[in-house]
Amino acid sequence: MSGERKELGRLGLRIAAAGDIHSPKYLDLFEEALSRMGKADLFLLAGDLVYKNDHTQLAPLLETLRRFHGGEVLACFGNEEYLQERKKYLELGAPRWVEDQAVVLEVKGLRVGVVGSQGSLSRPTYWQSTHLPGIGRIYEERVKLLDRLLKELDAEVRVVLTHYAPTFATVKGERPESWPEIGNRKLEEVIARRQPDLWVHAHAHRASVLEATLGRTVVANASLPARKSIYVTELPRRSGLDAFLPQGVR
Ligand SMILES: [Fe+2]
Repeated sequence: MSGERKELGRLGLRIAAAGDIHSPKYLDLFEEALSRMGKADLFLLAGDLVYKNDHTQLAPLLETLRRFHGGEVLACFGNEEYLQERKKYLELGAPRWVEDQAVVLEVKGLRVGVVGSQGSLSRPTYWQSTHLPGIGRIYEERVKLLDRLLKELDAEVRVVLTHYAPTFATVKGERPESWPEIGNRKLEEVIARRQPDLWVHAHAHRASVLEATLGRTVVANASLPARKSIYVTELPRRSGLDAFLPQGVR
């Protein structure tokens, strides 16, 4: 990395995220939350962007977002973007969907890697197990896939974007019986092993604990109905020592 890139990196990368907008249902709340967000360098959309698979409602969401954010937008799918009809969304051309893959972007002189996926559930919902053959297997495979994508991700800032939660720590507030249908705790082992800087998810609308730290990974529930604001963080996080040193001596 050049000296100049290092300096730029130290200025910090502001990452913003929101999910469960269910356009048009929470579009007014989204707009109001965006007006309080401040400037972001990268925006992550954590799935359930539209209400009940109405892909025509994606355009108003993106128009709203564009009034407040001119930078890159990455998105993962949620369960409301029905698995059988993903092609419709991909054909719209925007946002940039990251589906069971990793992308590396250069933002503010930093190589930012984002692994994206709908994510995994410990237990498929009744509807899923009766309508989506093999879904349990898909969820198991996704745990392995996310582990591999993170292992291979070569970036200075490493972020994961999923709709479902990778831990139950950030779904507390939802009924405990439903937690296995909101996320998959097996991903805590992936976090322990790969330690990304940030893992953003949504889906837990009624959660009251919205952030957890697992090792050096911050897990953030960016569900708009739960948070009522846009999640914003700055990366790379400064280490304890860095935070106390003036810029010139780092
Ligand atoms: Fe959802």
